[in-house]
Amino acid sequence: MVHIEKISKIDKKEVLAILQSFWGDSKIVIHNEIFDVMSLDGIKAVDNNQLSGICHYRISDKECEILTLASLNPGQGIGSALLKEVEWFALNAGCHLICLTTTNDNLNALGFYQKHGYQLTALYPKQVYISRQLKPEIPEIGYHGIPIRDELRLEKKLK
Ligand SMILES: CC(C)(COP(=O)(O)OP(=O)(O)OC[C@H]1O[C@@H](n2cnc3c(N)ncnc32)[C@H](O)[C@@H]1OP(=O)(O)O)[C@@H](O)C(=O)NCCC(=O)NCCS
Repeated sequence: MVHIEKISKIDKKEVLAILQSFWGDSKIVIHNEIFDVMSLDGIKAVDNNQLSGICHYRISDKECEILTLASLNPGQGIGSALLKEVEWFALNAGCHLICLTTTNDNLNALGFYQKHGYQLTALYPKQVYISRQLKPEIPEIGYHGIPIRDELRLEKKLK
């Protein structure tokens, strides 16, 4: 049974290892900004006492932006449980909108978020070329062997 908790200081090492495996390190570059996600609010999924997923977010101007969402056991509802919880936090914080940015290669994320009611609202062609100036470690090739080039923004209105 998966349950969701806030990330605490004692999770630091494990959370960092997850960030390293998905994003190379704890620094994430989105829309020309660098975020050190270790300094942001985050939640974790715990399954049988094992950390099985994480999600970091920030709230500003009544909008919640998801900066990370990762599931260590795909297809078992962990991503959905984290997303549901972050949407609940956002709603309770008075947000009217939740959003995120992903890249053109991340077909899983595009499918996952759209299935959860998110709509594509913007395409930033070649934005990742700019991101690489801030974080040269961003690989050229991403998921499914697709070159990583563009950013896509998805949004969901909260009721
Ligand atoms: C995207 C991600 C978080 C999904 O997590 P997950 O634990 O596999 O998600 P769930 O098991 O909760 O899946 C939820 C639903 O999305 C669907 N889904 C998952 N991947 C999908 C895909 N590629 N296309 C369409 N739907 C998909 C599942 O079928 C499921 O629907 P169902 O409940 O009707 O069967 C996971 O693939 C991941 O960690 N990716 C790497 C990190 C990343 O790219 N994060 C997103 C950018 S922040």
